[in-house]
Order: sequence, then C-alpha cells, then structure tokens
Amino acid sequence: MSEFRVTPISTLHAEFSVPGDKSMSHRAAILGGLSNGICTIRNFLPSEDCVNTLNAMSALGARHEVLEELTGYGPIHLRIHGKSMKLSAPAAPIDCGNSGTGMRLLAGLLAGQPFASELFGDASLSSRPMGRITIPLGQMGANIETLGEKPGCAPLLIHPAKLTPITYEMPVASAQVKSAVLLAGMFSDGTTTIIQPAETRDHTERMLASFQVKTRHEGNSISIDGGQIPASCDFTVPGDISSAAFWLVAAAALPGSRLLLKDVGLNPTRTAILKVLSRMGAHMSEIVHHSEGEPIGNIEIQGAPLKGTTILESEVPNLIDEIPVIAVAAALAQGRTIIRNARELRVKETDRITTVVDNLRAMGAVVEEFEDGMEIEGGHPLHGAVIDSFGDHRIAMAFAIAGLFAEGETIIRNTDCVNTSYPGFAHHLDAILHERSQAADFTLPTISHA
Ligand code: S3P
Repeated sequence: MSEFRVTPISTLHAEFSVPGDKSMSHRAAILGGLSNGICTIRNFLPSEDCVNTLNAMSALGARHEVLEELTGYGPIHLRIHGKSMKLSAPAAPIDCGNSGTGMRLLAGLLAGQPFASELFGDASLSSRPMGRITIPLGQMGANIETLGEKPGCAPLLIHPAKLTPITYEMPVASAQVKSAVLLAGMFSDGTTTIIQPAETRDHTERMLASFQVKTRHEGNSISIDGGQIPASCDFTVPGDISSAAFWLVAAAALPGSRLLLKDVGLNPTRTAILKVLSRMGAHMSEIVHHSEGEPIGNIEIQGAPLKGTTILESEVPNLIDEIPVIAVAAALAQGRTIIRNARELRVKETDRITTVVDNLRAMGAVVEEFEDGMEIEGGHPLHGAVIDSFGDHRIAMAFAIAGLFAEGETIIRNTDCVNTSYPGFAHHLDAILHERSQAADFTLPTISHA
C-alpha cells in the first residue's frame, strides 16, 4: 500500500495542466457508446473510475480503440464505436470499482434494456445509498434488486424492463440521480422530466446537446424525449476543476506563490471553489478561451493571507467534492469558516465530515463537527501527523495539501485510491515538493499507439 510523505514548502511557482474531468469522462464513455458512429475522445481521464465505465460500455458491445495512454494508467485519447442505442447483454457482472457516478449512471442506462445485468463495486461503493436511483427508476417500471448486505445497496441486479416516462422531483440535489433518470428516459417512449431542488452540475445536459440529443429546460426542471439516437461527435475533455482545487488551495494559502493551471473546465456549475477562494483573500483570474459546449480556460492564482468564510447553502452542490480541501484552506486561514447544509458529504466515498474533522484535529486544527457540516477555527498552526485516507481519494489529496503547511513530516497512508480520480497526483506532488531544489517537470508521460 503506497503512502505520501510531505514536508512544508516555502514557494510554489508552477504552470501545468491537471488530468481530464472525471464527470465528463464517464459521460463521454456512455454517450459515445450509445452514439450512431465513431467518436474520438481527447484528454479522457485514465482513472480507475472512468476506465471501469469505459470497460462497462465495451461489455455492452461499444468497443473502443486506445490511441494514446498515460503510462501505467489507461487511455487519454481514444475512439469509441457507438452502438446506435442497441446495447448487447453483458457476459458477466459489471465492475464499477469505487465509483458512485459510474454505478448510478450505468443503472439508469441499463434499467430499460431487454436483457438482465448486474453492477457491483468495492466495499465503499457497496455501502453507498442506491435507493436514490432505484426509487425513480422503479417508478419508470424498472425492476432493480439491491443485493447488498446493507439494505438499499449494491450489487444491483437489473432485470429486463420496458420503461414508461415519469416526472420526478428529486429529494436531494444530485447530478448522478438526474443523469440516471435522463439516461433511462432515453430508452422510454415519451417525455421524462426531472425537477432538481437546487442546481447541480449540468454536464449530462451539455454533453447530450453535443451529441445532438435535445433536452428542454425550465428553471430547475429538465425534460428529455425518448427514442433519440445520439449523433457521433468528437469531444475534448477539459481538465478537472476538482483536481485543480488541490493546487489552487496550496497556492492560495502561500503568500508569494503564483500558479497557472491550463485548460481547466470552467463550467459555472463547478466553479464555486474559485468564488470561495477569492472570498477568502486569494488573488485569482480565470480566462475562458473556449466556450463551446463546456467552457475551458486558464486559472491564475496568487497566494495571500487567507481569512475564513461561510459557505452558502446554494454553493454546496457546486463544490461538494472540493469541501475536504476547502476545509484544509479554512484551517490555514485566520478566523472562522462555517460549512453547513452539506449532509451529502456523509455518503461519499467515506463519511467526509468525519474523515475531514478527525484528520484536521490530528494535525492540530480546531474543528467542531455537526451532523451537516463543520466549523473550523482557523489559524492554529498545523503539525505533521500520520493520516489515513480511509481509501478516499479526495481525503488523501486534501491532506497531502495540509502537509505542505504543517510543521515536520506528514505521512498519508493508503494513497493508491488517488488513482480513482487523479492519476499522476503523486508526480505533481513530487514536482511541487522538489521545486525549490530543481526545475520541476509536471509533464505526465504518455505512450502513443496511433
Ligand atoms: C458527480 C456528481 C456528484 C459528485 C461526484 C460526481 C457526477 O455527486 O459528488 O463526484 O459526475 O455526476 P452527486 O450528484 O451525488 O451529488
């Protein structure tokens, strides 16, 4: 089992790109596989989560060719052969690994097929709630059994079914639930409508539009007509702002630093992290240089003494994945940071309220835990500690950033999990740690097959 050993840095001057967006890579694999022809996907995220979804689509008949891969990980440039919405029965149960997005979106896709399928995942995924998708999909006529030891949890056994459209008001603001219902709606006759309690990331809707599938939007409701066949297209995945967030916090909290992150996805349903760091005192500019489909641009940030902030309820769905690293920024800031209305954190890869609070305390931070969040009294000096990721990629990476500011050495245990979302994180961390002694190289090595 691998670990990170992190010591404090005194400078951060870097320019690089983070790997492709995880949410968009899942969706590109799925919609490419449903499309009516060949799709070329560039900057696909070769993480375990997204490679599992790509393999799931292969198991359903949509094969792909790898044109370029990130050495030691998986494809970053590939060609998917779409099946024009006619998937084939998988020969074996489908492994979704650690990925809630993969499992929930695939369940939506498979709910209305004329064949049976089974989705399973690792221990973390097998303890996450699946009722949030089996309930609406069941209302559409899907027949999904949850076979997990924990009630309502994976593995999911999906029986053949013919779906009827519904209008569904989601009880939680979840892009995964929205996407599962929209994908199921593509396989039903008529109009399926989903109403969100708050805005969630809109990558599914934007990517459907890139594949010429029409959706209608009215306030927070989205409708889709079944029977549309996605038109094949080429798609370039922007860098993942949730991966960028780790380095943005590192630079923001270090006065005198300057960081330029290139070609990052700047979809407004994901950029609340930038607003929060600006509010905390970081100097930042974002320049969108490509705005078709998904906005892409560069983010430049300069560090400054940070101050605490209150995360607004309306911001929570937009920055839910960034909260662990925002909590680290809060510990480094002067004053109080309040994070509430974030109960969803308890059902992520780990209970991220508990794992963040416990690990911050282990490093000397002053934190109060609430059922739906935490309050951090910033400005208490952090010290090195032995930190467990509990197998959660974002906990491992957030605490590697904390280690850059802690006295002595911080050891983060159980770090293989970072490969679920950020292959190459260790390389970038190393480059930042060694920047003071040599010119750091942030380029991740690739192998071309084209
Ligand atoms: C995701 C949606 C979010 C996020 C997850 C990716 C997606 O989950 O936490 O990492 O790609 O749709 P919820 O939709 O459950 O909030």
